[in-house]
Amino acid sequence: MRLLIVLLTLVTTFAARADLEWAYQVMDESLLPQRDLDIDLHAPRMVPGSSLQRSQDEIDDHWNPPDWFPNSHHAPVPEVVARGAGENVRACAACHGFTGAGHPESAHLAGLTVGYITRQMADFRSGATRSPSGSNAMRRDRSWMNRFDPTDEQIQEAAEWYAGVEVIDWIDEVIEGDIVPKTYIGDGRMRHIHPDGGTEPINGRIIEVPQDRELATARHPYSGFTVYAPAGSLARGEDLATTGANGTTFACSTCHGQDLNGLGDVPRLAGISPLYTVRQLNDFRSGERAGTLASLMTLAVANLTDEDIVALAAYLGSLDP
Ligand code: HEC
Ligand code: HEC
Repeated sequence: MRLLIVLLTLVTTFAARADLEWAYQVMDESLLPQRDLDIDLHAPRMVPGSSLQRSQDEIDDHWNPPDWFPNSHHAPVPEVVARGAGENVRACAACHGFTGAGHPESAHLAGLTVGYITRQMADFRSGATRSPSGSNAMRRDRSWMNRFDPTDEQIQEAAEWYAGVEVIDWIDEVIEGDIVPKTYIGDGRMRHIHPDGGTEPINGRIIEVPQDRELATARHPYSGFTVYAPAGSLARGEDLATTGANGTTFACSTCHGQDLNGLGDVPRLAGISPLYTVRQLNDFRSGERAGTLASLMTLAVANLTDEDIVALAAYLGSLDP
C-alpha cells in the first residue's frame, strides 16, 4: 500500500510538472461566473489618488487603457503606447502598463534598453521568438506580439519611451512554503486567491497573485504582486545565480551585470516576475525563444532542471530592482 502511494505521488508530481506548462497560464472557465459576481462591468470605478472614472469594460479596452496618473510620466506618452495604431496594433500600455511593470501573464518593459526592446520586436516579427506552439491557449494569446505589426517608427517611439520609465519594485514578497492558498486563473489569465479560501500543495509551481485584486483588475500602475515558491527555492536560486552551482550554469552577473540590473543590451533580471522568468528559461531551453542573441543563453540553461528554473525565478523575483 505504502509503495503504491509513493508511486502515485511520483506520477502525479511529474504529470503536474511536465514542461512547466503551468507557467503559461490559461483561464479557468469553470470559475468565470464567480469572478463576475462582484464586478459590474458597466459601473464606474475609481482608484485612490486619481480623479479618473472608468468602468471595467473601458478598463479592458485594448485601444484606450486607463492612464490613472497622467501627470506622472517622464515624457509625453507616444500614441502607440496609449492608443495603439489601428486594428492590428493594440496599445502597448493595455498589457505592459503605463509604468512598464507588466503583469505576470505579459512582461515588464521598464528598465530595458532601446536596443533590447527593438531586438525583441524584430525577433517577434520574424517568428524566431515565442511563436505559438502546441494547444496551450496562453501560447496562442502570447503570440499577439508576433502578430502585431507596428511600423519601425512606432517601435522606436515605444522603445524610447519605455526605456526612460523609472523601474518600480513590483514584487512585494516571495514567500516560501509547500502549502499555499488555493487560487484560480481568472479573466485575462491572471491568478487570484480562490473566493472559497482554503489551501493546497504548491506542487513545484510558482504562484503569483496581486497584492490587491481590485487594483490589479483596474490595472493600477503601482499595485504589485505577491509570490509563493516551493520551500528551499531562494537558497538554491541564489547558489545557481551567483556561483553557477558547481558548473550547473554560469554566474548570471557575468552578462546581466552587477546586481543583475542589466549590462548594455543584456536585460535586467532583478525584481522581475518569477512566472515570466520561468517561461523565458523554459523557452530558451526548449528552443522556443531563438532570437538573435538567444544563443548566449543556451549554455546557461542547458543543464537546468525544472526545479532549478523555479528556484532561479523565485530568487530573481526576490531581488530589489
Ligand atoms: C495584448 C497584450 C499585449 C500588448 C497590447 C502588447 N504586448 Fe508586448 N508582450 C505581451 C506578452 C504576452 C509578451 C510575452 C510574455 C512572455 O514571453 O511570456 C510580451 C512581450 C513583449 C516584449 C518582450 C519583453 C522582454 O523582456 O523580452 C516586448 C519588448 C514587448 N512585448 C513590447 C511591446 C510593445 C512595444 C507593444 C506596443 C506596440 C506591446 N508589447 C503590446 C503582450 C502584449
Ligand atoms: C553568456 C552571457 C549570459 C549569461 C552567463 C546569462 N545570460 Fe541570460 N541573457 C543573455 C542575453 C544576451 C539575453 C538576451 C537574449 C535575447 O535577446 O533574446 C539574456 C536573456 C535572459 C532572460 C530573458 C529576460 C527577458 O526580459 O526576457 C532571462 C530570464 C535570463 N537571461 C536569465 C539568466 C539567468 C538566470 C542566468 C544565470 C543562471 C543568465 N541569464 C546567464 C546572456 C546571458
